[in-house]
This record gives sequence, C-alpha cells and structure tokens, in this order.
Amino acid sequence: MSVSIIFARSTNYCIGKDGQIPWHLPDEFAHFKRTTLGKPIIMGRKTYEDHQSALPGRRNIVISRQANYQVVDSIELQPSLDKALESAHKSSDEVFVIGGVHFFVEAFKKASLVYETIVEADIEGEAILPVFDFNGWESQVIERHKKDEKHAYAYRVIKHMRL
Ligand SMILES: NC(=O)c1ccc[n+]([C@@H]2O[C@H](COP(=O)([O-])OP(=O)(O)OC[C@H]3O[C@@H](n4cnc5c(N)ncnc54)[C@H](OP(=O)(O)O)[C@@H]3O)[C@@H](O)[C@H]2O)c1
Repeated sequence: MSVSIIFARSTNYCIGKDGQIPWHLPDEFAHFKRTTLGKPIIMGRKTYEDHQSALPGRRNIVISRQANYQVVDSIELQPSLDKALESAHKSSDEVFVIGGVHFFVEAFKKASLVYETIVEADIEGEAILPVFDFNGWESQVIERHKKDEKHAYAYRVIKHMRL
C-alpha cells in the first residue's frame, strides 16, 4: 500500500492564495487529472472548499475536525490523515494526498512518490509549503511546459521516487 503526493508550487513555495490555486494552467491541471484519475484522493477541508464539489472519477475523502461538517453526498468525511488513509487503502493500493499544507507535510513522511510541479513565478499567498528534503529520493523531470497564450507561467513537473 502506498501514499503518493501531488502538488504545484511557485518558486517561493506558495500553493494557495485567498483559498484558491493562484494560477490557471490547463495543461498542468490535465497532468493532475491524468495522474490521480481512478485513485482515492485525500484533501483538507479548505482544499475541498476551493473545488466545492467532488472531483469526478476518484473517491474523494475530506479531512475536518468538525464531525458535522456538511459535504456533498459522494464525499467521505474523516477526522485525521491516518483514518483517511486507512479507509482509502481499503479500495486501492495507491492513494493520493492532494493538499493542503498540513497534509502535504504529514503525508511526506509516509510517501513513496511525490509529483512536484514548479511554477516559474513568485506568488504571494497564505498557503506556503516548507522545503522538502529529497535526499534519498530519485528525482526525474517528466514534463517541461513553456509560457504561452493559455499558460501565464512556465512550469516543470518532477517525479520523486523514494529509494
Ligand atoms: N497548488 C496546489 O497543489 C494546491 C493543492 C491543494 C490546495 N491548494 C490550495 O491550498 C489552500 C488550502 O490549503 P490549506 O493548507 O490552507 O488548507 P487544507 O489543508 O486544505 O485544509 C485545512 C483544514 O483541514 C483540517 N485539518 C487540518 N489539520 C488537521 C488535523 N491534524 N486533523 C484533522 N483536520 C485537520 C481543518 O479543517 P476544519 O477547520 O474543518 O477542522 C483545517 O481547517 C487553498 O488555497 C487551495 O487552493 C493548492
């Protein structure tokens, strides 16, 4: 059973601003969708509130300390990352943690695979990741994307595999 993480960050490690993802990069979103499709996805309550609906084609699990937090019917609510992982692993060997900051940090300790997108921009925002230490991991750039009319920023995707 494995834990994978997928995130996109700016060069200064910002992942979110005003409760939302601070860029619109359709091809990067397509990479997220392609990579996570068919797998359970686990997210914090604020990440869920950014989408306000279940991401289709995936089992969606939301973590909140509020036992009576209202989610749409198809979404499962869990009180902690450990409980969410335990539940997700009942239906799939690979489970993706998709945010936010606290859950990336907590899941990093257990993860064997990390998909990191680096967006080539300095962005101000309240959701900031720490610098993860990829010593003891093998890292490979799997995609490079230039800035174009649909993508305000260039980005690259790195796949990190724990050795
Ligand atoms: N760029 C990316 O790849 C990416 C990915 C995901 C999200 N984002 C962005 O990041 C922002 C949201 O992330 P965030 O870090 O602010 O919030 P978050 O992790 O999505 O959600 C935080 C909430 O999770 C619950 N929580 C946190 N720690 C917990 C614990 N130990 N046990 C149980 N529940 C816990 C709490 O919910 P309750 O208050 O309900 O208890 C807390 O308010 C948004 O801007 C979003 O767009 C970006």
